[in-house]
Amino acid sequence: TTGHITLDDGYGNTGSCQSDVTFIDGEQGILRYRGYPIEQIAENSSFIEAAYLVIFGKLPKQDERDNFAQALADNAPLHQSMMKHFDGYGSNGQPMAVLSAMVNSLTAYDPHVMHPADESDVFNAAATLMSKVRTIAAASHKTTIGEPIVYPRPDLKYVENFLHMMFSTPYHDYEPTPEVVRALNMFLVLHADHEQNCSTSTVRMVASSKANMFASASAGISALWGPLHGGANVAVIEMLQKIYDEGLDPAVFMDEVKDKETGRKLMGFGHRVYKNFDPRATILKGAAFDMLEKMNIDDPLLDVALKLEEVALKDDYFVERKLYPNVDFYSGIILRAIGIPLDMFTVMFAIGRMPGWIANWKEVHEDPKSRIYRPRQIYTGDVENTWIPRNERS
Ligand code: SDX
Repeated sequence: TTGHITLDDGYGNTGSCQSDVTFIDGEQGILRYRGYPIEQIAENSSFIEAAYLVIFGKLPKQDERDNFAQALADNAPLHQSMMKHFDGYGSNGQPMAVLSAMVNSLTAYDPHVMHPADESDVFNAAATLMSKVRTIAAASHKTTIGEPIVYPRPDLKYVENFLHMMFSTPYHDYEPTPEVVRALNMFLVLHADHEQNCSTSTVRMVASSKANMFASASAGISALWGPLHGGANVAVIEMLQKIYDEGLDPAVFMDEVKDKETGRKLMGFGHRVYKNFDPRATILKGAAFDMLEKMNIDDPLLDVALKLEEVALKDDYFVERKLYPNVDFYSGIILRAIGIPLDMFTVMFAIGRMPGWIANWKEVHEDPKSRIYRPRQIYTGDVENTWIPRNERS
């Protein structure tokens, strides 16, 4: 274990865990949910169907899907006393901070989640979490922009209900176009799980102490927030916008990225596992084109992204380091076309990743041999010191 830290969970698994949920082959650019290629799921499944597959391990039959969809519809509202929390944040509440705090607070309103007795308790907790994460996200957005919170409607499907809560007002019922509904379903499907990434590993770490599903998901939201992880979808748009606003030459920008002194990264590029194209980036790039064309939107940031990708893929610095576009490079173009505000981009990632976090929490919860994660360290501090009185200290 010299040179790197191994995570020994007591079963001889070092630096890793065993899971049945998602398979990635970084060299081949392969991603499969429960064995199904992401391309087939993205093309054919709604987010609800993909979430059911990720969480429960199989594509749902019609009655299973209907039952899950009904549970999501039934669990959409928040307890009225939770609605008061939003007033405390006012317009300064950062949506990811609100989401993490409110998801954790859900334990106060769900007596079973602390000690789920059986599969139905786990099912209900999963439906509660997946459903209410939308309501919390939309309510935090409404609070930030100073508009009245819009309640969920029991007659709307998952994505349509979220968009309703985000964009309807007391004076206008928002009606999404089929393109917007399809694009948001696909966005969420592509984010549903991704093996042992930073935030999912965090969820498993918290779950290993036998903490409840909501607390584990809340920790995952916090880990996702960082710009090297889920926060990258915001950083990509900020990078593209800067290049566009300042009229920067992408080639000149790339020189700054290659100059280590600047500390600048090409956000949305690179990946710890993919040393080839991230299959999600390929799908999102095509979906961005389709959506903008169908909606007759001309987003100059897409042109900047395409130019950056063209320059990077020909550049030795990037080729040698096997740096390709990742899931965050094109996803923001789609969120902009839908009308999602930039401060909600990482929240959208969290809503998409909720099935993966739930599935990983469930694996730990249901494993009778699971033990608390306890990473070991390589100690590099002083060997031993002796206490000295304050007046003798240097
Ligand atoms: C996500 O793990 C997952 O699965 C995450 C995720 C998921 O679905 O959960 O896929 C979602 O988090 C995607 C990543 C989003 N983050 C970004 O786009 C931020 C920009 N990317 C980098 O910060 C970086 O690529 C990481 C964080 C993604 C990976 O970090 P690593 O593993 O430390 O990078 P590396 O070892 O592959 O880097 C090798 C070299 C280094 O240079 P040298 O020291 O060899 O000279 O490549 C350089 C790095 O400096 N490098 C970059 C770069 N990414 C790596 N240089 C410029 N721009 C970049 N984006």
